[in-house]
Amino acid sequence: MAHYASSKKPGSILSAFKSDKDEELPEKYLSLKQELLNTNNLKDKLANSWTRLVKEIENETKEIKRLGPNVIPQVEFSDISKNGGTFPQNIAEEVRKRGMVVIRNVVPQDEALEYKEKVKEYIQNHKGEIAGFPDDDPQVWELYWSKSQVAARSHPNFVAAQTAMNSLWHAAPETLIDFSINTTYCDRLRIRKPGDTSFALAEHIDGGSVERWEDPEYRNCFKSILSGEWEKYDPYDATHRVNAIMDLYNCSGGCSMFRSFQGWLSLSTVFPGGGTLRVCPIIKLSTAYLILRPLLEDLVETTNMAGAKQGVQQHILPEFHQPLIDAVVSIPQVNPGDCVFWHCDGIHAVEECCNSVTDSSVFYIPSTPLCNNNIKYLARQRYALENGVTPQDFPLNNCEVDFSDRAKPSDLTELGKLGMGFTPLSLDAASTEKLSEGAINARKEFNKVLFEK
Ligand SMILES: [Fe+2]
Repeated sequence: MAHYASSKKPGSILSAFKSDKDEELPEKYLSLKQELLNTNNLKDKLANSWTRLVKEIENETKEIKRLGPNVIPQVEFSDISKNGGTFPQNIAEEVRKRGMVVIRNVVPQDEALEYKEKVKEYIQNHKGEIAGFPDDDPQVWELYWSKSQVAARSHPNFVAAQTAMNSLWHAAPETLIDFSINTTYCDRLRIRKPGDTSFALAEHIDGGSVERWEDPEYRNCFKSILSGEWEKYDPYDATHRVNAIMDLYNCSGGCSMFRSFQGWLSLSTVFPGGGTLRVCPIIKLSTAYLILRPLLEDLVETTNMAGAKQGVQQHILPEFHQPLIDAVVSIPQVNPGDCVFWHCDGIHAVEECCNSVTDSSVFYIPSTPLCNNNIKYLARQRYALENGVTPQDFPLNNCEVDFSDRAKPSDLTELGKLGMGFTPLSLDAASTEKLSEGAINARKEFNKVLFEK
């Protein structure tokens, strides 16, 4: 297989979470902790900063308990459209605070249900040929190129919702990022059966784990927190996100793209308790807690990084993060065509039991603005669509290579071609007039990497 194929081992969604819990991290993490404490005098400010943080989390948790799933902001897609493609100001502030949102009626219900029926047919057509988790009765399928998924990823309303999500972020003007263009990230899908208990995911964070401290550019995102001033931390500043390395140890499930928000499109009606998503809706506070936790007295003299291990996602564990687990809440009811987005550093989990008479099904589709990391991945992902192979970030199963009914580049709409990097971006005066210097350069980079031989 050519060099653009996935370099991961075969596997399933579980590959991202497997770790040897007792395996100790190397000595270098001990010196990394000392370095972090000595930078910006964190050592002297840590105790105070931590006390303020714990108090604030306590207060916010009371509010979350009081409101339950209703603490999660909800907005009609039509309200975003009417507001010129961005969130109305009061909702934007709430989404930023919670680090997540449910957007209602993004895709019409009947279209969303049709996506599900078509994908079920696709699975039926290839019985026994598609890997998934669990092995014996898959609920999360290793599928990337069904026509339904490809259509959903470039549904004009879905792309508009992603662009609205991206617009909650900002960056220094020279940063190579254009929030007005959403590129496409091709992930898999879940059709969780009623009564299923196999696909329960405990609290975790995607986007790597030790990398948040270890990679200098990733760490830069959390500079305020690591200076003892978590109050100044801005979870929506992308300046250092665009070149952050989130996968230093070839993690299956590590995402090469910068996702401003992770997300999915719902293909079912799912109530809290029906096998749905759970989140910790205090993004600024939960991130500050996560980043400071390994530096506290009980861990500082050890290599233990509080749930972070090489090559796996960040685990959120009762022994280290109980106050954050206490703040986790199920999302409100969602219907087919609704979308859910949560911040890339957001703690999330999946309810243990799909306690419902219907399935709990989603297409995983994040929001991924045009930027350096994403352009590089697009070149590889474009190859994967052309050849029907597994995209490079995922376990190398290549189930769909020989499926004649899989999507091909010719199935892409104009918007789909643009998101997948099959069409160059316009650089004429009218389309770049309102863009920052960095956004224009991001477009130039896109055209250079994807279209210049
Ligand atoms: Fe996750």
